[in-house]
Amino acid sequence: MSLETTFLNHTFKNPLMNASGVHCMTVAELGELAHSQAGAFITKSCTLEKRAGNPEPRYYDVPLGSINSMGLPNLGFSYYLDYALSYEKLHAEKQPLFFSIAGMSAKENLEMLKLIEASDFQGITELNLSCPNVPGKPQLAYDFEATADLLAQVFQVFTKPLGIKLPPYFDFAHFDQMATILNQYPIAYVNSINSIGNGLYIDPKSDTVVIKPKDGFGGLGGEYVKPTALANVRAFYTRLKPEIKIIGTGGIRNGQDAFEHLLCGASMVQIGTELHKEGVAIFERITQELAMIMDEKGYQTIDEFRGKLRVMS
Ligand code: SIN
Repeated sequence: MSLETTFLNHTFKNPLMNASGVHCMTVAELGELAHSQAGAFITKSCTLEKRAGNPEPRYYDVPLGSINSMGLPNLGFSYYLDYALSYEKLHAEKQPLFFSIAGMSAKENLEMLKLIEASDFQGITELNLSCPNVPGKPQLAYDFEATADLLAQVFQVFTKPLGIKLPPYFDFAHFDQMATILNQYPIAYVNSINSIGNGLYIDPKSDTVVIKPKDGFGGLGGEYVKPTALANVRAFYTRLKPEIKIIGTGGIRNGQDAFEHLLCGASMVQIGTELHKEGVAIFERITQELAMIMDEKGYQTIDEFRGKLRVMS
């Protein structure tokens, strides 16, 4: 029995990662991920300059998940690139690092991609087009024309492996439209889904919202979002060319949830809300639970069931 996963020509000891935004803001947190049982890890989505993000409270655990409006707080592009380069120097034998960027504009994204291209960074870059929490900045990936324009420019300047973090889509027409755009480019993977944007949670005792930014509106994660995440993983797995892999993110709390993402076609899976609740020990628990489920079902490797969701005839 093995949980090993081959992704972009690298073999990872298991398919579990953190979701960008959780436990990956500082070098200390990244170091804890590096020493955890996660198969790989990703940095906090960054901007060229460091950002304080939205006012607190801006993250709140609720019974069925979480609501957040962090607003892309981060320590700036150079902080994370310096970390990535020194990590690669110290751990040449280790798996590639995932580096997430989320510029405030197409220009800023292109600028960061050019800097990564020109650097010695050997890892995998994730372009986040789906942050729902920056006031006045809609999620780019809900604008199909702007996404197509940006990708056309990106692949003129960027040749290293690149994944795209997508928001959830809710209509077959949108799955089709986005897949048609993505299929035109040498994208390494899509990561589905970012949080379900702009939910509203009310504290029943005080009749108030639970986070301060945007009058309480924020991205939903956790148990709430798993069915939507699975649908997006499945929809893109069945629409994208096979060279574009899928990372499944959304609602993973246990081995069964991870199994379901893989069954829908994900190659790797990311954990956000539950990692925030439980800390990095979660990776050991979920790998054990996933291995037990595979054992019960008679699978020796993930490849034996990846993408093999059954539908009714
Ligand atoms: C945030 O910093 O607001 C979360 C990042 C994201 O949802 O992409």
